[in-house]
Amino acid sequence: MSHNTFGHLLRMTTWGESHGPAIGCVIDGCPPGIPLAAADIQTFLDLRKPGQSRFTTQRREPDTVEILSGVFDDDKGRQVTTGAPISLEIRNVDQRSKDYGEIRDKFRPGHADFTYWEKYGIRDYRGGGRSSARETASRVAAGAIARKVIPGVSIRGALVQMGPHKVDRSRWDWDAVASNPFFCPDAETAHTWEGYLDGIRKSGSSIGAVIEVVAEGVPSGWGAPLYGKLDQDLASALMSINAVKSVEIGAGLAAAELTGEDNADEIRMDNEGNPVFLSNQAGGILGGISTGQPVVVRFAVKPTSSILTPKLTIDRFGQETEIATKGRHDPCVGIRAVPVGEAMVAFVLADHFLRHRGQCGV
Ligand SMILES: Cc1cc2nc3c(=O)[nH]c(=O)nc-3n(C[C@H](O)[C@H](O)[C@H](O)COP(=O)(O)O)c2cc1C
Repeated sequence: MSHNTFGHLLRMTTWGESHGPAIGCVIDGCPPGIPLAAADIQTFLDLRKPGQSRFTTQRREPDTVEILSGVFDDDKGRQVTTGAPISLEIRNVDQRSKDYGEIRDKFRPGHADFTYWEKYGIRDYRGGGRSSARETASRVAAGAIARKVIPGVSIRGALVQMGPHKVDRSRWDWDAVASNPFFCPDAETAHTWEGYLDGIRKSGSSIGAVIEVVAEGVPSGWGAPLYGKLDQDLASALMSINAVKSVEIGAGLAAAELTGEDNADEIRMDNEGNPVFLSNQAGGILGGISTGQPVVVRFAVKPTSSILTPKLTIDRFGQETEIATKGRHDPCVGIRAVPVGEAMVAFVLADHFLRHRGQCGV
């Protein structure tokens, strides 16, 4: 199975299966001299880890990360990156492979079971193997390192829609994100989601969602025309996350309904002689290059395909059958996708920072 690596100057390669002994990643191209302790990575893994509320999968994984390589003590006694590949390992401790007997031969509609089987003719069905979102823990770990490469950039994500229920943007409060189990920036909507998702969860169903990630402090100039656009790489990074079905930058799909006047992000000069944009329909990117405004991206995730309701399918012997998926699943994958989306945005930005420095030297 090829294509497990993402990035250009900063590269991550993830490895491991959902029910194997461990998962992890190797980060190559990280600059030397950056203070890095396991705790710096653990903070972000703790946000993504399962079983933290009744609204996520009840698999109990501590997601404890170990740094195996690429760090050493500097003259001040701090553990810093050396420039060598950084290898990270997260042990799997709560596999329950017997729950997956049903999908050993049957394909879950909406999951990767059918396509993996068609392509490779062999499939680690336990927990979905490599197609499991357990892999996204490695991305979050890689993203934590990426953040350290660009310490001046703040990257924050929030769940902005669950099923038909959208947040009220007039009540947007970043502080609220940490105060509810949904990463919701609107406390009132979080309350609505609680009852709504309880209903979905108890009926054994699932629901889709939309996540927004905002990066502030990105200077103008990161990105490249024409085949290394910042928005292109962000879309690729976010689309590579399991269950993502669409990505928007700035006004996104809604731009199709705007006139040129409404879409124009007019420019003035402030008192210090700096350009100021009067709006940000572009989501902080023009011509594939950052404008200096916040970079704003959204992505939609589909509902979890592993549901209790029996659905029509086939098995690997070509027989028609039905499947109702047991095991522990996220009723709304969008919740835990928030830290994953942040991590992928951080990784793309850090990679583009290094690429910009490589070409332009600043
Ligand atoms: C954070 C996160 C958690 C997920 N949890 C589950 C889950 O519990 N059960 C499941 O069937 N799919 C889950 N998924 C989705 C599957 O991994 C995904 O649908 C599958 O790999 C097929 O890929 P595709 O949806 O991108 O086509 C999750 C995805 C993400 C991002």
